Amino acid sequence: MNMTTAEKTNVLKLLVLLFSHFIVSSQLICHRPRYHDWHPQPRNITLRLSVMENTCKNVNHCWNGILESAQEYWMDQSYAFPQLCPVEVQLGDALFAFTDPILEQYGINLINVSKEDFDSCFTEQVENQNLFASCMNGSMQVASKWLPPGIHYFTATHKGSSHLCQLGLRFSVLVKEQHCQSSPHLRLCSGKGVCRAKIGQFAYGCQCHKPYSEPYCEALDMCSEGPCLNGAICISIHSAQPSQASYQCLCPSVFTGKYIICLIF
Ligand SMILES: *[C@@H]1O[C@H](CO)[C@@H](O)[C@H](O)[C@H]1NC(C)=O
Ligand SMILES: *[C@@H]1O[C@H](CO)[C@@H](O)[C@H](O)[C@H]1NC(C)=O
Ligand SMILES: *[C@@H]1O[C@H](CO)[C@@H](O)[C@H](O)[C@H]1NC(C)=O
Repeated sequence: MNMTTAEKTNVLKLLVLLFSHFIVSSQLICHRPRYHDWHPQPRNITLRLSVMENTCKNVNHCWNGILESAQEYWMDQSYAFPQLCPVEVQLGDALFAFTDPILEQYGINLINVSKEDFDSCFTEQVENQNLFASCMNGSMQVASKWLPPGIHYFTATHKGSSHLCQLGLRFSVLVKEQHCQSSPHLRLCSGKGVCRAKIGQFAYGCQCHKPYSEPYCEALDMCSEGPCLNGAICISIHSAQPSQASYQCLCPSVFTGKYIICLIF
């Protein structure tokens, strides 16, 4: 390697610092609420790239034990550790990243990688996957082209080297869209529910107040109170007009083996 003495000293200083802090900081638990409600205005989300404060080491630390319900996320998420606390944003939020002065001095960039390369810390330069045109300096905005809906993986590198990734300077971002209105000028969840996503859920959806029904809470669901007794199946007859909404109960017929309409209890 053709490093100047100054560069070597720099690298050594960096590594000593990172390793010592890394050992101290390894107990971090990423605290987060169980769900988020959709916010109407995009927000600025700031991510600090630091092995000193923000890296987690196992599933419980990174997700604080609250991922059980998010099946799809479990499958797609990487469980390579250490990594920075996983980030979840809603589509349209602006993501800013900044880093410690020592890393800044050292010169780092972020690259967009596949899940496999995230897991193995494979950071060999791929064309056009650098997030920033120059090394990180101050707060840098991640362009929206890197953040379509879905899970994305990013790692930090110094001139293509993978050691920053191995120290935990890699993170995932789950970008969620909302499925809370059937057309953009209608109110979210028809104003009769909340537009909400749990941790790890891929999209926001309506949680309707009773007796309104999903997906957009515009129709009344007369079955939501369970009006059919004795094991009968309730079929809701939807209507936006409360007076016209109704339901039917279907009971198994002893004669035909098929379901027939039975009395409304
Ligand atoms: C987000 O950041 C941009 C650029 O720094 C700034 O102009 C804007 O006011 C910020 N928006 C919010 C909602 O904080
Ligand atoms: C980011 O990387 C993923 C996985 O390699 C790739 O599918 C995606 O197209 C990349 N994004 C951009 C904007 O190049
Ligand atoms: C970072 O930006 C500041 C001004 O914004 C500049 O003075 C400084 O030299 C830059 N540092 C590097 C390493 O490019």
